[in-house]
Amino acid sequence: MESLLIKGGVPLEGEVWISGAKNAALPIMAAALLTPEPCIIHRVPNLSDVRFMAQILNWLGASVTFKDGTLRIEARKIKGYGDYDLVRKMRGSICIMGPLLGRLKRARVSLPGGCVIGARPINLHLKGFEALGAKITIEGGYVQASARRLVGSAMFLGGRAGSTVLGTANVMMAATLAEGVTVIESAACEPEIVDLAKFLNAMGAKITGAGSPTITITGVKELHGAEHELIPDRIEAATYAIAAAATDGEVTIKGARADHMHAVLDKLEEAGVSVVRRGPDLIVSRKGRLRPVDVTTLPYAGFPTDVQAQMMALMTLAPGISIITERIFESRFMHVSELARLGADIEIEGPSAIVKGGRPLSGAPVMASDLRASAALVIAGLAARGTTQVNRVYHIDRGYENIDGKLRQLGARIQRIEDT
Ligand code: EPU
Repeated sequence: MESLLIKGGVPLEGEVWISGAKNAALPIMAAALLTPEPCIIHRVPNLSDVRFMAQILNWLGASVTFKDGTLRIEARKIKGYGDYDLVRKMRGSICIMGPLLGRLKRARVSLPGGCVIGARPINLHLKGFEALGAKITIEGGYVQASARRLVGSAMFLGGRAGSTVLGTANVMMAATLAEGVTVIESAACEPEIVDLAKFLNAMGAKITGAGSPTITITGVKELHGAEHELIPDRIEAATYAIAAAATDGEVTIKGARADHMHAVLDKLEEAGVSVVRRGPDLIVSRKGRLRPVDVTTLPYAGFPTDVQAQMMALMTLAPGISIITERIFESRFMHVSELARLGADIEIEGPSAIVKGGRPLSGAPVMASDLRASAALVIAGLAARGTTQVNRVYHIDRGYENIDGKLRQLGARIQRIEDT
């Protein structure tokens, strides 16, 4: 297994290019199942999650090639069945279900199960499929959806934590090939949903309202091939911005979308970080001493849960108390005990973490538990004195393209090593 070895205390300086968004790539790749014609997707990040999704599409019968950031997917003939061993490894793979149901009118996919950040139910996805007329059965760990015909209808997809990103994506994809009009209320407003709608519309779908809580889909008979460039990864951009602030460096983040990052950039500014917006670039540096800020994660356009761990790492460096409240996933605080190994003082009180910041961090071996927790540990390691070894780096490779290479380019002393 690989680890990252970080010698901390070096301010990050220079430029970093942001990759295409992982969470836009996965549903858009699945959407290519809706047509037998070839689809071309550009700016695709080379990540283990993306390669894994390509394997799933391949297993379903699609031919997939991936070269120099461009994916070509041709799903001439596909089967409507997603095996447990495929789906359990990546929770995001549940988004094959909507396209399979849309195109074949039947889908049988293994229930993904929970993961380290929470239970991750799919009841809202199924509620949406049922509203389109599908019959849902659950047996032997598999969920089956089937319909003679899918018929558009109005539905409310809000859940206990608000909207659902992949639930909205799944229902939107199935509804493109339903008869009549579907209206999703309490739809997710994330930029990745807007990107998916853009791709589906390029395929011939009729979707309006994406980016707002009401999305309207007028069904069409068939979809055709399309070409698309993914939006930049706002979570990756936020992670580098936080790393720049944590190391007291100055980093130009190239090719980002500040308009997708208002909540994060606003919090960073409140914390004493300077963010200069220059077209698609962001220049991030500290203005003086870091200040503690309170953060609550919310669906878009609120502060993203996928940046909560990284922000917490930054707040361990800000003298004073900050309260970080997680409202999306019930157990997304796995990084807290690992940050404590670096010297951070954090207490968990229900859905909140109380960070008493300002103590110097010192390097130690730590264990990555999930993707964003690992990013937080890398940030803390970059800011800490001495050497930090982040174990189980495969978590970070799921969502950050070439993170060690990009950080080295910014002057970080970071090395990937094979554990003995
Ligand atoms: N929820 C339900 N019922 C459902 C679906 C969701 O109650 O049927 C709840 C969840 O338990 C959670 C909340 O709704 O409390 C939001 O979950 P959501 O469905 O929006 O999450 P997701 O679509 O499964 C995507 C991203 C996650 C990101 C979340 C929230 C992908 C592939 N994954 O997951 O990304 O954290 O939205 O923004 O797009 C990551 O990249 O590290 C990651 C975990």
